[in-house]
Amino acid sequence: TPGPAADPYRPVYHFTAPKNWINDANGLVYSNGQYNLFYQYNPQSAQPGHLAWGHATSPDLLRWTAQPVALTEYASLDGSNTMIFSGSAVVDKDNTSGLFAAGKTDGLVAFYTGHQERAGAVVAQHQNLASSPDGGLTWQRYAGNPVLDIGSKEFRDPKVFWYAPQQKWVMATVKADRQQVYLYESKNLKDWSFLSRWGRVGNTVKEWECPDLFELPVPGGGTRWVLLISAGGPVEQFRGQQYFLGQFDGKTFTPDQAYEEPTYLDFGKDYFAAVTFNNVPDGRRLLVGWANDWAYAQAVPTGTEWRGSFAVPRELSLRRTAAGLALVQQPLAELRRLGKEALSIKSRDLKPGPAGYELPFHGESYDLELTLKPGKANLLTLNVLQSANEKTVLRYDVAKQELTLDRRQSGNVAFHPMFASSLETAKVPLRDGQLQLRLLVDKSVVEVFAQDGETTLTDLVFPTQHAGRLSLITDGPAQVTALRLTDLSQSLTP
Ligand code: FRU
Repeated sequence: TPGPAADPYRPVYHFTAPKNWINDANGLVYSNGQYNLFYQYNPQSAQPGHLAWGHATSPDLLRWTAQPVALTEYASLDGSNTMIFSGSAVVDKDNTSGLFAAGKTDGLVAFYTGHQERAGAVVAQHQNLASSPDGGLTWQRYAGNPVLDIGSKEFRDPKVFWYAPQQKWVMATVKADRQQVYLYESKNLKDWSFLSRWGRVGNTVKEWECPDLFELPVPGGGTRWVLLISAGGPVEQFRGQQYFLGQFDGKTFTPDQAYEEPTYLDFGKDYFAAVTFNNVPDGRRLLVGWANDWAYAQAVPTGTEWRGSFAVPRELSLRRTAAGLALVQQPLAELRRLGKEALSIKSRDLKPGPAGYELPFHGESYDLELTLKPGKANLLTLNVLQSANEKTVLRYDVAKQELTLDRRQSGNVAFHPMFASSLETAKVPLRDGQLQLRLLVDKSVVEVFAQDGETTLTDLVFPTQHAGRLSLITDGPAQVTALRLTDLSQSLTP
C-alpha cells in the first residue's frame, strides 16, 4: 500500500482509517491514559455499508493507533440484519450497570443505534449497549438489547453522559425526521425513562442527527448548557451543525432565546456529525467532526483504499462577543507540539497589486497563523494550495465584514455537481481593526479559524497540481502584523 507521501489526498495530521469508508465519530471517551475514537466504518470497502464501529486509540488525539473493529453488524433469527449506527461511550466507574466484576472502575459501556433492516427495508432504529472490560479492545453486546425502542425508524445517535447533580445518567437522542431531541434518564445504563423533548427550531430543512448536550463555564461566572445538533447547514442544500445555549436541570433543556434564526457551528461545507468526548481528565470539552457532506461523501476522489477523514479535535469554550455569548472553537492545544516552524514574520507591509506577496514556503500540510490589518484595503485574499491553474481562496471583504472560502478553482471539483456549487461565507467583524486567522491545511482538508476561534469554516479540496504555494493579495495598502507557519508534513513520521 502506498504511504501517505505517495497519496496526494490522505491527510498527515488529520485522522483517517488505515483503509475503507468512515463517517461519524462515535464513542469518544478517555480512559486509562488513552483517548478512544470509534467511528462509523465499513469493514468491507471504501463505500458506505455494513456499518460497524472502527476503533483507534491515542495518548494525545493526534497520533493514533489502529485497533480491531469494535462492533460489527449482526443477523437475527427473525431474518433481520442490524448495523451499528452512531453513538457514544462512558466509563462506568462505579459499575452502575453491574456488567463488570465487583470493584472494577474502568469498564466501558458503549451506546449505539441498532439500525435494523429486513429484506433491504428499515424495520427499526433502537438504542443498544455493549460493554468492554478491557479498555475497548473486546466488546460484548448486552443480552437485554435493545434498551430503548419506541417503535420508530428514525430514532438514533444516543449520547450518554453522567449528570452529577442527580447522580444519574442522561441520554440525548433524536427523532431525526421530527427534528427533535429526546432526553432519557437511567441509574443503571440499562433501564431508561423519558425526561423531555425539545426541538423544531432553527434549521429544520434536514433531519436532526447526532445530538450532544454538555455544560461549559461562562466567563465571569455561571455556566450554560450547549445543545449541539447535526442538521441542515448554513450553505443551502448542505448539512451542517447548529448549537443552542440554555439551561438543563436534569429534565428539560430551556434555551436562552427563541432561536428562530439558527446559530451555526461551522460555515464550511464539510463539518458534520461532530460530538464531544466523555471523561476528559482536565475537563476540556473536545469536539471531533467528520470532514465531509453526505451529498458527495461517496464520490470524493480519494480512490478505493480509503474514504473519509476527521477534522482536528477542537476545544470548545464560551466567549462574550459583540453578538452575545458565543461558542468558540480552537484547534487542540497539543497540535502546537508537532511540526517545525517554517516561517515567523513580525510585521510586513502589503502593497496593492495582482501579484501580491508570495510566502517563502511551499507545502500541503501546515498550520498557518496570520493576523492582518486591512488599513486602506477593502479586499484581502489569501491563496493556499496554489499551483499554475489551481488555488483555494480565502477572501475577506472589509466593508461587508465577510470571510469567504472559495474552492471553485481548488482542483478536481467536477466529481460531483454540488462540490463547487457555491461559496462558503461567514460574518466576521474585525477586532481592534484586525483579522486573526488560523488555517489548518492538510492536503485535502482546509480548516479556517477566524478571530481566535469565533468562526470556523471547514472544506475539503482536491488539488491536482501540487506546487502548494501561498500568496497574499490586497487591493490597498495593508499590513501583516503577525505570521507563523508550522510545517506539519513530517509531523507524524517517527
Ligand atoms: C449521521 C448519520 C447518523 C447515523 C449514521 C449512520 O451522519 O446519518 O444519524 O447514525 O450517520 O452511519
